[in-house]
Amino acid sequence: MDRIRLVGGNELRGEIPISGAKNAALPLMIASLLTDEPLVLQNVPRLADVKQLERILENHGVDIAVHGRRRGEEDAVGQRMTFHAADIVDTTAPYDLVSKMRASFWVIGPLLARCHEARVSLPGGCAIGTRPVDLFLFGLKQLGATIDIDDGYVVARAPKGGLRGAHIVFPKVSVGATHTILMAATLAKGTTIIENAAQEPEITNVAECLVAMGADITGIGTRTLKVVGVDRLHGASVDVIPDRIETGTFAMATAMTGGDVLLRGARAEHLDAALAILGQTGAQISVEGNGIRVRRNGNGIQPVDVDTDPFPGFPTDLQAQFMALMTMSTGVSKIRETIFENRYMHVAELARFGADIHVDGQLATITGKSQLKGAQVMATDLRASVSLVIAGLAARGETVVNRIYHLDRGFERLEDKLSRCGAEIERLAG
Ligand code: EPZ
Repeated sequence: MDRIRLVGGNELRGEIPISGAKNAALPLMIASLLTDEPLVLQNVPRLADVKQLERILENHGVDIAVHGRRRGEEDAVGQRMTFHAADIVDTTAPYDLVSKMRASFWVIGPLLARCHEARVSLPGGCAIGTRPVDLFLFGLKQLGATIDIDDGYVVARAPKGGLRGAHIVFPKVSVGATHTILMAATLAKGTTIIENAAQEPEITNVAECLVAMGADITGIGTRTLKVVGVDRLHGASVDVIPDRIETGTFAMATAMTGGDVLLRGARAEHLDAALAILGQTGAQISVEGNGIRVRRNGNGIQPVDVDTDPFPGFPTDLQAQFMALMTMSTGVSKIRETIFENRYMHVAELARFGADIHVDGQLATITGKSQLKGAQVMATDLRASVSLVIAGLAARGETVVNRIYHLDRGFERLEDKLSRCGAEIERLAG
């Protein structure tokens, strides 16, 4: 398996183009199942998770094309892709495909809405907690579906005539359940109200795509979505939003190493909470016409306490990276992970750099050190892996991050982007 080798100590200086958001691209691709016309997506990141979802969609009969770059775009990140589900040839999403990535479970919504049946394997994904699917099943049942669990598969059937609009109040905020029910409701008969919906920017990106496809959705960007079902959706062309987690990750890397980096294309309104916290640590953040600039010049990293929360709160997907930053603060900071019950697997690995972190349930207490030292490390999920890269960039000496398969799931051209800003980083073939 490939590894990343890096030698820490260099400041980051330059520009990093921000890729399209993985967590928007995946549900946008899934939305293509709702129509027999082509859905064109611009700025799809080239990631292992995107490739994996392509396999799943192809299994359902989706025709997928990747378009060439135009002149002058050779250096661009992302790609333009067309997804055309003229006919759904198979409504089963098999275990060997779904088990690799949790988001693939979300096909259950569009398949059920369009084909009135779906058989989808229970999902896999990053090992960050139990991650059940009860909220999905609750929402689909409210839309009139019958659900059976058969041999590791969720078998869902719509009532005669298709799904029916309903008033759904989610007991807990879930990104995936919101995407799934929102997509399913677009083709249901009548009106659906989704209360306590997730309001992450990726949900807004998908809702706006569905509207461009002919769906009737109001309340976009709020906790309450109203969907009036339509008979059919049509094709559309939609941009994937810039990746706010990639943005936050490079912002934290710059805050940790020192330096001055423009995160080109990033949108500050998608990560207000994280940028405010970074500002409190002593980094200077300025919003420029074409992105966000992050600077830190020699001053110490201030300790700041953080709780993760659904959007617009501080994202759980930046918790590991922020913890890496706090390992070199000038004092004691506390992080409370409130979304996933088991998302501290990076703690033991950060300790290999000499970090001082104590975990008690959901609460991590980090006592900052003036210097970390390079180490051999390995991570078991995507964001944890990149937190180790950040720590390695700031640590003295050599770091090797093993099993970087997870990084390739969610970061496009990571080593390239960092090395162009002065980092000493390379991929070692496995
Ligand atoms: C999405 O996962 C993201 N994945 C995750 O990013 C992100 O960490 C998470 O939202 C929270 O922001 C994608 O967008 C592809 P949830 P999702 O349902 O939808 C519980 C990354 O690193 N829950 O909002 O799976 C669940 O266990 C990934 O890019 C139920 O209890 O997250 C968790 O505690 C990892 N029952 C909480 O809700 C359910 O039926 C929030 O999870 C569903 C979820």
